Amino acid sequence: MRCQNGPRRTTNNQLTQSVRQHQSIDMAKRKDYWDEYTNLQRVKHDIIRNYLNGWFPILGSISGKLVYFDTHAGKGRHRDGHLGSPLVALDTFSKHTSRDRILSKCEVSFIFIEKDAECKAALDKEISNLVDKPEKVSINTIAGDCFACLESLVDHFKKPGNRLAPSFFFIDPYGFKVPGKIISELMRFQRVELFINIIWRELDMAMRQPATMENTLDNVFGDTTWKEITQLPDIDERAEATAMHFQNLANAKWSTHIRMLGDNQRTRYFLLHLSNHDRGRDLMKECVWKSCPDGGYLARKGDKINQEILIQPEPNLIPLRKWIASTLAQRPHRWQELAELNRRELWLNKHLNSEIKWLLKHGELSATDYSGRLSAKANPLLSLSK
Ligand SMILES: C[S@@+](CC[C@H](N)C(=O)[O-])C[C@H]1O[C@@H](n2cnc3c(N)ncnc32)[C@H](O)[C@@H]1O
Repeated sequence: MRCQNGPRRTTNNQLTQSVRQHQSIDMAKRKDYWDEYTNLQRVKHDIIRNYLNGWFPILGSISGKLVYFDTHAGKGRHRDGHLGSPLVALDTFSKHTSRDRILSKCEVSFIFIEKDAECKAALDKEISNLVDKPEKVSINTIAGDCFACLESLVDHFKKPGNRLAPSFFFIDPYGFKVPGKIISELMRFQRVELFINIIWRELDMAMRQPATMENTLDNVFGDTTWKEITQLPDIDERAEATAMHFQNLANAKWSTHIRMLGDNQRTRYFLLHLSNHDRGRDLMKECVWKSCPDGGYLARKGDKINQEILIQPEPNLIPLRKWIASTLAQRPHRWQELAELNRRELWLNKHLNSEIKWLLKHGELSATDYSGRLSAKANPLLSLSK
């Protein structure tokens, strides 16, 4: 981890003032949360919809039960009619083309936790208005503090003989105080995936207030790693290191995150997906590319939500071309070996395939030891041309 060179540019007093200022701005924003529907809210919900569209049939084919948890469920609907996350999840399942096939073998449970009585009442009302309620679908709303609920859930399912069904947890607080311990405990269960909204700007500000925030930060990070992360000079570097920390803390095989930029073009928060399954990683990569087709793994608050995109932005794949060349410079690889290695990278396999084809066409790669048509399926041995 790199250390900061030179003095901090902001004094502690200025920081305290700034934290207070932002806290009061955020209190106001919380009130506004349901009055607006920004591009960041849209991207968050699009990712949930697209991910669940893949998750339901994949897990539904191997398990007798699936659970979607929304720990900070909210009201269910924004003032302008846009659906909140619980209704997005319900709507995705109810309109799923494989819904009846999934329900022929599987029960699907939706659990929504909400602390605020007014929000919970609004959500209950939305749910009571739903007309489509198939028999093997259960919907439960729970009033209360989600972290207390999650702790009892962990205690219950840790006991011998109890087994948590494959579950997707969406954790979407207003603030940053999600205890790291609960993240790591949930990820110990098989086939649990977490999608967490890390309220980065506030978390980063707290990290620069070690004197007053130490206990809170120890609780959020699950240890004292935040002290090292604070030393990194660049805010986006600190955000990357924080995402990596949560992956390590949760011992998750895969972590995928998308940065959400505020009006000042700096990371406002990031959505972090943790999974122990290759298909979960592949699916989340696809969802993020759908939401950010130019490939930056970032979304901007200012983008218009209903704007018609006439020209789909093209990703810059030159770095991928360089990655293929440097990987093959070490030794020849099978095409499918490159696809496996690409899972660690952010590009999709369709990008990899098109770049391999481009390099073959332009004589920069050669393919040997395959039969039939030259393709990923034929799995040739690829090497750099001499
Ligand atoms: C950002 S909003 C949720 C938005 C919702 N997930 C959506 O996308 O439509 C956060 C919600 O969490 C609720 N909340 C805050 N702290 C909570 C806690 N500890 N347990 C449960 N709910 C909480 C708030 O009342 C608020 O409704």
